[in-house]
Amino acid sequence: MAKNKLQSVRGTKDLFAEEYLQYLSIENKIRQIALLYGCKDIATPIFEFTEVFKRTLGDTSDVVNKEMYSFDDRGGENITLRPEFTASVVRALISGGMQQLLPLKLFSSGPLFRYERPQKGRQRQFHQVNVEYIGYDSPLADSEIIAMAAHILENLGILDKCILHINSLGDVESRANYRNILTEYFSDFVNELSDDSKMRLSKNPLRILDSKDEGDKKINANAPKITESLNSFSQDFFGQVLANLGHYGIKYEYDTKLVRGLDYYTHTCFEFITDHLGSQGTVLGGGRYDGLVKMMGGEETPSVGFAAGIERLMMLVENNNHYPRPIVLIPIGDNAEKQSYILAQILRKSNIHIEIDFKGNLAKRMKKANKYNAKAVVIFGDDEISQNIFKVRHFDLGSESNISSNKLLDFLQTL
Ligand code: HAM
Repeated sequence: MAKNKLQSVRGTKDLFAEEYLQYLSIENKIRQIALLYGCKDIATPIFEFTEVFKRTLGDTSDVVNKEMYSFDDRGGENITLRPEFTASVVRALISGGMQQLLPLKLFSSGPLFRYERPQKGRQRQFHQVNVEYIGYDSPLADSEIIAMAAHILENLGILDKCILHINSLGDVESRANYRNILTEYFSDFVNELSDDSKMRLSKNPLRILDSKDEGDKKINANAPKITESLNSFSQDFFGQVLANLGHYGIKYEYDTKLVRGLDYYTHTCFEFITDHLGSQGTVLGGGRYDGLVKMMGGEETPSVGFAAGIERLMMLVENNNHYPRPIVLIPIGDNAEKQSYILAQILRKSNIHIEIDFKGNLAKRMKKANKYNAKAVVIFGDDEISQNIFKVRHFDLGSESNISSNKLLDFLQTL
């Protein structure tokens, strides 16, 4: 930390005023859409026991190996700041005894933490909106959740900037087949693989396909494709997902190299990718995770979900969010000043944004009202009080009118 000067931690960002309005507006728009599909809200704690994430996300994933914010708390418990929602939501489902409520569609949003190298579109504290369909085994759930994702991007006006990439990782049997075939293939290149990929070779060779290392990428180019390892059940399942996407009118690219960065996926996995954000182009990603609930100690519960990074959405969406412009009360003299408090509260309780300005002469106060970007000012002193009127100056029209006191509220509401 720099001496004598407090700074924000690398990879974190303060959101202020219009930027935060944009954040809230995107989060709220997405939540409203999720509710249309039947989602209920779930808010889980920002930290969990490390075990919640360690095994579930996969001990060959970068998230677990390099990126978790983990620490011992004062009671000696090993705690991790959540790097994603899915494992937390599944933990909540099991420990909260919610399994009898299944199937459930769940929406969450909030901050997440990954110790990544910060760059455009990649932070150490970032935010997601997250949707999980838990207890849904049909391919119809996969296509519906992708349709929801497309609906969200369309609503934000950015669907045409994104391309849907989709792949199937197959069921447990297909994955095991593919794993054997890949292990055999990569074993021929064992000395050329990066250190990370060497480690992955015995634990989870699928993750090598996701490597960013240039040498690995060359080896990956000729690696066998998962398509050839899918058994007939997996092929049929994926075929139905794709056919349903056709019924929804959703375009996609079948991307046989898409494996995603977390280990729990089975069958469908997908990402909406843009070329407008440089190297961090994945705006939204998700897939099916049929084995996760059981792995975490629950009943066998097929599930599918996705998450989108709010910061990445914010970079793609034009920010038209503004605070409402205020009406400024300018009371002149003691009597008017006293009355201005009551008037201000009546107007605020009628949903009008009010500022009161007491200090300085009229010219100075008008200047300040301009600085507030006021829509209008309401000027009143002893003369106006005795006549039961207010002088209202409308800034945009440049007009001034006397409004009788019983009509003031109606008049301001029309502004
Ligand atoms: P993920 O692909 O790790 O998936 O993250 C989803 C999205 O979060 C990414 O597409 C990206 O927009 C955003 N994101 C991830 N890391 C960062 C970062 N460091 N800075 C900014 N944005 C970031 C998951 O988290 C899964 N839990 C999604 C899921 C839900 N799968 C099934 N259900």
